Amino acid sequence: MAKTEFSVYKTFSQCKLFKLLLFVIIFIAFLPPFSSSLSFNFYAISCPAAEMMVKNTVRSASDLDPTIPGKLLRLLFHDCFVEGCDASVLLQGNGTEKSDPANKSLGGFTVIDSAKRLLEIFCPETVSCADILALAARDAVEFAGGPSIQIPTGRRDGRISLAANVRPNIIDTSFTLDEMAKVFSAKGLSMDDLITLSGAHTIGAAHCSAFSDRFKLDANGNLTFIDSSLDRQYASQLIKKCPNGATDDSITVRNDPSTPFLFDNQYYKILLEHKGLFQSDSALLNDERTKNRVLEFANNQDSFFESWRVSFLKLSSIGVKTDDQGEIRKSCSSINT
Ligand code: HEM
Repeated sequence: MAKTEFSVYKTFSQCKLFKLLLFVIIFIAFLPPFSSSLSFNFYAISCPAAEMMVKNTVRSASDLDPTIPGKLLRLLFHDCFVEGCDASVLLQGNGTEKSDPANKSLGGFTVIDSAKRLLEIFCPETVSCADILALAARDAVEFAGGPSIQIPTGRRDGRISLAANVRPNIIDTSFTLDEMAKVFSAKGLSMDDLITLSGAHTIGAAHCSAFSDRFKLDANGNLTFIDSSLDRQYASQLIKKCPNGATDDSITVRNDPSTPFLFDNQYYKILLEHKGLFQSDSALLNDERTKNRVLEFANNQDSFFESWRVSFLKLSSIGVKTDDQGEIRKSCSSINT
């Protein structure tokens, strides 16, 4: 090959190579970012004892106070539905989610703080508050007698927490089934997830204000209204417990009076007896779309547990922040400065 012929060929092939390189660069630039996701044993190398430390903290707290599992489970629900599972509900301060009246009765914060303090000693700035909360709620269910579930980790903590975001995302007990399903659907959860996750009301308690809209007394204390989907005798018991209606905010009633601290399928049995505490609970029995599943769960705890595993995984993965999103907080109640 002549010298000129060779250099033309070289220039030509270099040009082709350059074009190919350019194409690859442009192609990569327009690719969507690498899909970020949670993974099992995320802390296997960075903090192998992380899950054990959370578990031990939840175990000690629940042994001392059997109301803790219910509090932790509800805390996760309220975290994940607002801004995703990013521990935004734990942030303190004026105008944060925690300060909204809808979150007034949340509890379990001290358990998360204890686990975080322990983790900061052994694995500083490594384990997110969002993961601690998800693991704690998972463990809480197990300690209360519910199914054990392996959940993926790698959530990062959010830096945004606004009270204004709470009401549009959290369900009120007065919601119809369609309204509840709509909120769940916006979070990627199905009607089946709604029926299943409502089973969380097999543990824990509620303040009078959460169910006193189901009956009305006149000035003389006579019953003037009673929600027809509520068992009359049960309503009378509730009225006795909450004689001043919604204003009795120091009184709590157990969601499942027969096994209040046991995570079982009793909730669905209660629904069949028309003794679901909230109007939103009774709604599950009163609609053909959900009734059969309620019946199934009431008759078969294994079926409820099987479904719980699937729905809990979905709940604890809503809108998670991963990779370079958010941060790993040093303290769960405030963002890093
Ligand atoms: C579907 C609609 C839901 C409504 C309308 C609802 C409403 C409520 C209300 C009003 C309370 C009582 C709060 C109080 O007065 O202190 C409560 C308690 C509770 N909720 Fe729900 N909830 C719903 C779904 C869920 C879900 C999905 C979970 C968890 C997966 C959950 C877990 C709990 C627990 C464990 C308690 C007891 C809390 C404690 O003992 O401190 N709830 N819920």
